Amino acid sequence: MEQSSKDFMPIPINEFSKGIVIPVDLFIRIGDEKFILVAKATTQSNVDQFKNYQSKEVTYLWVRKKEFYKLTHQAMSMAGISLTKKDLNDKQKTTLITHAARSMFRQLEHLGMDMEFYNHAKQITQAVLGLVESNRSFSDILLSLNGYSDALLPHSIAVSSLSVMIGSSMGFEKRATLEKLALGGLLHDVGMKAIPVELTTKSIASMTTDEIQLYETHSFKGMQMLNSIGIVPDDIVSIIYEHHENSIGQGYPQRMRDVKMHPLAKVVALSDGFADLIIPNVNCPVPKNPREALMYIEYTLGIPYNREAFRALKKAIEGKKKAGAA
Ligand SMILES: [Fe+2]
Ligand SMILES: [Fe+2]
Repeated sequence: MEQSSKDFMPIPINEFSKGIVIPVDLFIRIGDEKFILVAKATTQSNVDQFKNYQSKEVTYLWVRKKEFYKLTHQAMSMAGISLTKKDLNDKQKTTLITHAARSMFRQLEHLGMDMEFYNHAKQITQAVLGLVESNRSFSDILLSLNGYSDALLPHSIAVSSLSVMIGSSMGFEKRATLEKLALGGLLHDVGMKAIPVELTTKSIASMTTDEIQLYETHSFKGMQMLNSIGIVPDDIVSIIYEHHENSIGQGYPQRMRDVKMHPLAKVVALSDGFADLIIPNVNCPVPKNPREALMYIEYTLGIPYNREAFRALKKAIEGKKKAGAA
């Protein structure tokens, strides 16, 4: 089979912990374009074997790019399992969340974004994750997202950094504004906790009308939850309440048009829709690459999002030079 280094991505060997079942094939690189399979998917990780590689100065194992998301999900569910153990202290919980977040960042990095925009966004999301982890109420929320389903925390982290990326591409410069986008993105689906988890394993297309109605209450319920803890800035509450509104007035819960929407909610609404196209989920099991996702939003959906935010996302994906030349 033809191999190309473009199809693989490296994972530092020391990130593999003992005895976990690895959901993907693992390779070592033996030449510019040559990789050999060293562990088949679903076998237990053999740390001794990995240590042996390390002694031969192999520092990375390689996985197929298209399978990397499986590792992200695994990192998340490992965190979920470990977090239920009472003997874990706060620092260990934080380490698990951070590990899981790193895995999601790596997945986004390898999708082919403009790295300058992306790195800035990642930095801010990481800083906000740090703040969230040091605040009891927020960190409890974050941990409960993780406990709700394997997919919710990775999705939230992705929406958080994509929102910051779009915001900075739109020219939002204030650090506080970008941090609000990061926090709003992180918490936008908090209301899902009030929805039966079985529902989230169904695609929207396969839900009954009643189920859709119930599902759509998550933005309202999220707003209620955050209001009840009382420490959340109003901007964040608006993001959560309006993240499913859209510019053509066909969103929910209020069918609010673009002009009425909170400026930061317009950004999170787009990054939420975009994340669902590029990261596999029940509604989109075969993800698109970022450029295909942009085309899909533009030509198939007819840009039901804020246009300025969409142009900014395009600029962040295609890179400054290309967008500037167009
Ligand atoms: Fe949502
Ligand atoms: Fe979402």
